[in-house]
Amino acid sequence: MSEDKIFETDDGSEPFRFNASVARVFPDMLQRSIPGYAASLEAIGSLAARYVRAGTTCYDLGCSLGGATLAMRQGIQQPCCRIVAVDAAPAMIERCREMLAEDDRQHGPETQVDLVERDIRDIQYSNASMVVLNYTLQFVDRADRDELVQNIYAGLNEGGLLVLSEKVVDEDPHMESLLIDLHHEHKRRNHYSTLEIARKRAALEDVLVPETVAEHRDRLKRAGFSQSAVWLRYFNFVSIIAIR
Ligand SMILES: C[S@@+](CC[C@H](N)C(=O)[O-])C[C@H]1O[C@@H](n2cnc3c(N)ncnc32)[C@H](O)[C@@H]1O
Repeated sequence: MSEDKIFETDDGSEPFRFNASVARVFPDMLQRSIPGYAASLEAIGSLAARYVRAGTTCYDLGCSLGGATLAMRQGIQQPCCRIVAVDAAPAMIERCREMLAEDDRQHGPETQVDLVERDIRDIQYSNASMVVLNYTLQFVDRADRDELVQNIYAGLNEGGLLVLSEKVVDEDPHMESLLIDLHHEHKRRNHYSTLEIARKRAALEDVLVPETVAEHRDRLKRAGFSQSAVWLRYFNFVSIIAIR
């Protein structure tokens, strides 16, 4: 796995982009930056085993290199399913195609995966039993998030599942600064320097726009999800499951 050294040289003055340099080191970046990332993939596999129904479609939205796609594919127990993995960044799609081909070579073609280079706001969702937004909604314009979640809800079958993982902010400024501090300490333990952390933070300003847990759960409720629960929290990163 290539080591993420991007902000050793990038000074963070330009907005963060999911370009070829990021795609090359992305697995390492995710593992070292997002507390709970590995746990989110493990749960996505278990949830796929429980929720994915025969003959339905699963969506991995903002699939990047396909971490959640592969977790779903390994978890699915039912026949005649298909996974639609979507990302708007060409560099991510290109690397994801290679990762999927490697997985096919190792495990044989299991559930079909259709890789789509498109904005997730432009997808027509239908016949879905499981939809995954693993650390992606935070990058979508805030003004468009309601409509996207409504479209996902409309495309889910009754009893279908949405997994929504996000970086969040706390309503209490004191707790918010403590959680950010703990996250940065976690990154230092994972061998990012204080300078790299500060530069990435600057690059992500206005690109990754986090919301509170309450805002996410309210949006899910407004869209029609009858139940939602936070199943994972690690500092300022959460994962929520919601059922139609
Ligand atoms: C943090 S990464 C997601 C990680 C991935 N889901 C995983 O579990 O490994 C966010 C991804 O969302 C994609 N993305 C952000 N906004 C998007 C949009 N509007 N449409 C499609 N993809 C988008 C980015 O290109 C990036 O690859």
